[in-house]
Amino acid sequence: MNIGILTGGGDCPGLNAVIRAAVKKFYRSADGRILGIRKGWQGMIYGVAEELTLRSVSGILPKGGTILGTSRTNPVREPHGMERVEESFRRWDLQALIVVGGEDTLGVAAELHRRGLPVVGVPKTIDNDLSGTDYTFGFDTAVNIATEAIDRLHTTAESHDRVIVVEVMGRHTGWIAVSAGIAGGADVILVPEKPVDIEEVCDVIRKRHASGKDFSMVVVAEGVRFSDQPGQEGLVTSSAERDAFGHVKLGGIGNVIGAEIHKRTGYDTRVSILGYIQRGGTPTAFDRILATRFGVEAVELVLRGDFGKMVALQGNKIVTVDLVAATGELKTLDESLYEIAQVFFG
Ligand code: F6P
Repeated sequence: MNIGILTGGGDCPGLNAVIRAAVKKFYRSADGRILGIRKGWQGMIYGVAEELTLRSVSGILPKGGTILGTSRTNPVREPHGMERVEESFRRWDLQALIVVGGEDTLGVAAELHRRGLPVVGVPKTIDNDLSGTDYTFGFDTAVNIATEAIDRLHTTAESHDRVIVVEVMGRHTGWIAVSAGIAGGADVILVPEKPVDIEEVCDVIRKRHASGKDFSMVVVAEGVRFSDQPGQEGLVTSSAERDAFGHVKLGGIGNVIGAEIHKRTGYDTRVSILGYIQRGGTPTAFDRILATRFGVEAVELVLRGDFGKMVALQGNKIVTVDLVAATGELKTLDESLYEIAQVFFG
């Protein structure tokens, strides 16, 4: 049998671990070949792929990024994009396609499934915002990187009696912010799920400083909005452009929050925006293991002919969920996790 695998959307630690696991499992279990599609949906539209062998995946387990390349190309927006994707299925005689991606990439896979094509999904994103799975791979690495950054910034905040605002990624959810904030001992954590009243934030910091602490760590998710500016208009963006899936480019809310804190409290305040550092480099052991389990299970699904599914982690078990349901709505922050974080505010 011939199968394909592609990685789409933002890069994420663990992509290569999935590719390696899928290739090794495939060649152990089936006759045929596995094609690596280049740069996500772009490779399916323009017919660019290479055969993956045991040799081509040797040594890639700890490497960040993706050996296949990635893109945010959306076939729905390209002229005859979906038809060209279908044409690649026929040209390469693919009996299955493993799609590794977040909500956008997997949303296209769900649409192909509706059109009757044999697809299987693997959930990837540092944001951890995909429904149907407790964790996506890449998230743990991003949280570890952000936690280390918070630890390092803590020493500067403490030495200089400063407020330090750390902006982390996460798009419209606060999973990275809350997790890294709890792990790094943040004094305030701001998330998109809880629109921000800046005066309340300043009060928390004032009270903390009045009680004898001379510094504060504030963790801000990039998708945070102010409570008096709800909706998309309240989002701070780093450019006017939108990507092919219609998403704004978030970034810079940390600067706005930092300036307000300084203006309202008078405390010496600095801002650090972590950006792409959070999704670069080698995956943690947790992400390597999760990505490996996902890759093996995705091939199992292919071999069973169980299409239109996404592999997922629920509790400690790898399960399969419906691809259409998994991409239907974002998984927002677990309220109980935020409540735990709040115990340490101030
Ligand atoms: O979805 C992962 C992510 O890193 C988000 O946290 C962030 O908002 C976005 O991708 C950045 O996208 P781009 O790579 O297009 O700048």
